[in-house]
Amino acid sequence: MKMLKMADGKKMPAVGLGTWQLTGDICFSAVKTALEMGYKHIDTAEIYGNHKEVGKAISGHDRSELFITSKVWRSDMNYDNILRACDRALSEICTDYLDLYLLHWPNDSIPMEESMRALNRLVGENKVRSIGISNFNEKETDEAMSHTDIPIVTNQVEFHPYLFQKGLLEYSAKKNIILTAYSPNAMGRVSKDEAMTEIGARYGKTSAQVGLRWLLQHGLAVIPRSSGSHLKENISIFDFSLKRKEMEAIDSLNINKRLMNPSFSSIPFFDSIPEPVIKFASKFLK
Ligand SMILES: NC(=O)c1ccc[n+]([C@@H]2O[C@H](COP(=O)([O-])OP(=O)(O)OC[C@H]3O[C@@H](n4cnc5c(N)ncnc54)[C@H](OP(=O)(O)O)[C@@H]3O)[C@@H](O)[C@H]2O)c1
Repeated sequence: MKMLKMADGKKMPAVGLGTWQLTGDICFSAVKTALEMGYKHIDTAEIYGNHKEVGKAISGHDRSELFITSKVWRSDMNYDNILRACDRALSEICTDYLDLYLLHWPNDSIPMEESMRALNRLVGENKVRSIGISNFNEKETDEAMSHTDIPIVTNQVEFHPYLFQKGLLEYSAKKNIILTAYSPNAMGRVSKDEAMTEIGARYGKTSAQVGLRWLLQHGLAVIPRSSGSHLKENISIFDFSLKRKEMEAIDSLNINKRLMNPSFSSIPFFDSIPEPVIKFASKFLK
């Protein structure tokens, strides 16, 4: 497993298992199977309602070999609630610490200073090893960074070939923040892509594997979800590499297609309009 060095000196496995929408026995079985296959990194969140199943599946494994990420939901991001949410997560997952704890989604009605102070305290208490953010834009990231002594190691954001967030990627690299790609398979859409299927055929790989490889080669971590049948495929991406021309061909598939854009998101609406629509409309606006 490829490891990514984070700003705080610790390491994160470049591929993890996403668990959003996996609950009950399906979650338990997916996490258990993944760990048996060699996954080390599991991504969960309080809002996914599966901490207990993740905890059950990791029991019996050497905890020091695993990398467990969880997230505090946006309504719980004030100082006291973050501390309580983390204790709940530890108790539900049956672990003494989280490798990574993220603010799940910005909430401008709660002072960022409070949220960051709570995360810093959790690190001081050894309940959390590394801290990060999720769904933060550049301005929100700058603000979060201004309220923490401990480095923010990652920003977990939607990122796939149809949403190539080049500006955010460049900005994050400058700040030494790794982007973790969520919905890396565009919720299943990447696997049907003709251009990537063609590239994959050269290497005996699927379109989904090509998409994940593209993300890794851009320096991101990836957390594809699979309930079972694609687990092996999604981790078998270290025995080939994409050439520069192939990377550029996939870069050009971008249409700014955002699949996650809830009403409380601070991401501008304009950002979620597909690029071809923008190009078409701009002809009439000139
Ligand atoms: N921070 C946030 O706000 C946020 C938001 C969304 C997601 N996330 C995290 O990111 C993880 C991944 O994102 P996601 O769950 O939205 O979507 P995803 O990983 O892009 O796609 C999951 C879907 O793709 C299918 N799939 C997986 N691998 C495949 C393959 N190799 N070929 C064909 N189909 C494949 C899965 O089906 P099968 O189950 O049949 O394999 C499932 O239906 C989440 O589970 C969660 O942990 C975070």
